Amino acid sequence: MAEAAPELTGSAPPVESLTASTSPNGAKPADYAIIADGLTKRFGDFTAVNQVAFKVKRWQIFGFLGPNGSGKTTTIRMLLGLLRPSDGAAEVLNKDITRHANQIRPRLGYMSQRFSLYNDLTVLENLRFYGRTYGLRGKRLRERIDFAIQMADLRGRERERTANLAGGWRQRLALGAAILHQPELVYLDEPTAGVDPVSRRAFWDLLQDITATGTTIFVTTHYMDEAEHCEDLAFIHDGDLIARGSPHQIKQNMMSGQVLELSPDDPAKAMRLLQDAQGTGEIQAEEVALYGAQIHVVGPEVEEQKEAILAVLRAGDVDPGLVDVIAPSLEDVFISSIRANKEN
Ligand SMILES: Nc1ncnc2c1ncn2[C@@H]1O[C@H](COP(=O)(O)OP(=O)(O)OP(=O)(O)O)[C@@H](O)[C@H]1O
Ligand SMILES: [Mg+2]
Repeated sequence: MAEAAPELTGSAPPVESLTASTSPNGAKPADYAIIADGLTKRFGDFTAVNQVAFKVKRWQIFGFLGPNGSGKTTTIRMLLGLLRPSDGAAEVLNKDITRHANQIRPRLGYMSQRFSLYNDLTVLENLRFYGRTYGLRGKRLRERIDFAIQMADLRGRERERTANLAGGWRQRLALGAAILHQPELVYLDEPTAGVDPVSRRAFWDLLQDITATGTTIFVTTHYMDEAEHCEDLAFIHDGDLIARGSPHQIKQNMMSGQVLELSPDDPAKAMRLLQDAQGTGEIQAEEVALYGAQIHVVGPEVEEQKEAILAVLRAGDVDPGLVDVIAPSLEDVFISSIRANKEN
């Protein structure tokens, strides 16, 4: 199926009409779990979500990425029918979420940002509580609890207090609770925040397994490395959707520049030196960004700037370490997109 090209958008163009029976690429609306069209939320004078448009295909993992305060949770609350949009609309599981929230909600799952488990309840009590809230009873409830315990790797720990579980287990338990009723679509709001890298990795494997059973996953994160696990992405920044597409499309279509990666002995000092040199025009770069201990210098022909960059660092008594031209990461693309959005 042909993919729509990702777009750099100050205010995203509207997606095809919500009432169209087929989209230009031949997919039926039923193939989408979510079609957001011009979704906007204002709190007084402040616009938290601005004209956001995207489509989420069924049975995929859709990543909604953005820094703190960019509008991710507000978007989810609108897509759950908990918050009325100031403007625009969203079709969720083929129905307008604002008008049919009560009908659609039983088919949705939600893992809220702080995991929404009761700390003073045991593992089993939490699952029973959520299962009953979703209307599960008897044999079906027992089966689904069994599934969640298995999935969360908590067999034998059913009577442990949730407060005593380490982050990775709490996270998987919260996921199990959110999908107990086998929702068609589940929203996971920063499910991996504050969880160790090994658990994060295992969690993403789990998400793949869940989509294979027919559930669509809408997941927010601010960890860019996690975006690579998503089939489609949207980047949000200050309420604006600034990029969307598959990770590959986004990298191909949105990043014209090269990335020079340095591993200096003093990254913080190297950052200051390079940003100053960028300011004075001593080096030509669009972006100088710090990633842990590494620095990425991004620009159209950054390889030609290599000698100038090294000279700046040596003059400041910083050893540049390994220097390499690398493929841009999604984080590079995101930072570039933010700059382009600000310039629009
Ligand atoms: N009820 C509200 N009233 C006023 N402002 C709000 C309200 N809810 C959210 N905001 C503001 O809207 C913006 C977006 O918030 P939101 O919680 O959606 O961001 P987020 O991307 O989920 O951030 P985080 O990564 O920190 O969870 C923020 O500036 C926030 O302060
Ligand atoms: Mg949030």
